[in-house]
Amino acid sequence: MRILVTGGAGFIGSHLIDRLMDLGNEVLCLDNFYTGHKRNILQWINNPYFELIRHDITEPIRLEADQIYHLACPASPIHYQYNPVKTIKTNVMGTLNMLGLAKRVKARFLLASTSEVYGDPDVHPQPEEYRGNVNCIGIRSCYDEGKRVAETLAFDYHRQNNVDIRVMRIFNTYGPRMLENDGRVVSNFIAQALRGNPLTVYGDGTQTRSFCYVSDLVEGMMRLMNGDYIGPINIGNPGEYTILELAKTIQEMVNPEAELTFKPLPEDDPKQRQPDITKAKNLLDWEPHVPLGKGLELTIKDFRDRLK
Ligand SMILES: NC(=O)c1ccc[n+]([C@@H]2O[C@H](COP(=O)([O-])OP(=O)(O)OC[C@H]3O[C@@H](n4cnc5c(N)ncnc54)[C@H](O)[C@@H]3O)[C@@H](O)[C@H]2O)c1
Repeated sequence: MRILVTGGAGFIGSHLIDRLMDLGNEVLCLDNFYTGHKRNILQWINNPYFELIRHDITEPIRLEADQIYHLACPASPIHYQYNPVKTIKTNVMGTLNMLGLAKRVKARFLLASTSEVYGDPDVHPQPEEYRGNVNCIGIRSCYDEGKRVAETLAFDYHRQNNVDIRVMRIFNTYGPRMLENDGRVVSNFIAQALRGNPLTVYGDGTQTRSFCYVSDLVEGMMRLMNGDYIGPINIGNPGEYTILELAKTIQEMVNPEAELTFKPLPEDDPKQRQPDITKAKNLLDWEPHVPLGKGLELTIKDFRDRLK
């Protein structure tokens, strides 16, 4: 199959491409390299079944593909808030362009949406039916409202034009190739511990998150794409940890000497986030397998090599 991966030079996209290439597909990687890097896909650059296209999805493009995995969008608050108008354009105009492409070439289209569509949830854990508690004028809105519109666009293209869509709501994912400066909690703690700096905990650290290792996530993504259920479907790891527990685990694994410091919580930071993955279990026969300790070990090794 010829498969287009938008955002393919990024963290999740590049792991997906590794799997797709290993399975013998032809892969087109489309990226504007805003948060993605060539080093993530370096191993495929000279492979005749791999093509790298530098392109910004806010502009239309004509390509042929059987499947489109649409991941292009900065995922970390630091990067998506740097130019919020651009983030909205990527989510809205970019998704519109990619759905238009899917319609034209009759490709199956998978949208990488996010648990952020649930905002600061007042239902816990979050099932797909939960409509969310999102602030439409806050500093995260360019991302969470952007993704909500992207989901709307996908379903409208499906209802109006029969585009074959899949919508996946991704919860916090971590693993090798995350950017060390992306401000996300796992990468922050690992980079700080490796550098011998204090680990910054926002608030009192009692807020919780769930963390899915990237190989588990990619498996769920491919099962969704190749199954019959269109979604939306939560893909994440329901194992819930407080931020303080995570900080202490990483401190223990990397540098027991490193200190912890506490800073005020950023605006609109959700207090709890945990996926309800009943649908993924029942409809995709999927659940995560990589335990946090193992995933952190692999991530820490990658950060150690890069920060050398
Ligand atoms: N990592 C997570 O925990 C997480 C959680 C929820 C949702 N997601 C979603 O998964 C997708 C991938 O996330 P990631 O963690 O790999 O992020 P990432 O920032 O590493 O990857 C995004 C990629 O998209 C590219 N990109 C951004 N804007 C673009 C544009 N206008 N045109 C072309 N390319 C563009 C970037 O250069 C980058 O390679 C995103 O859509 C994100 O919203 C990720």
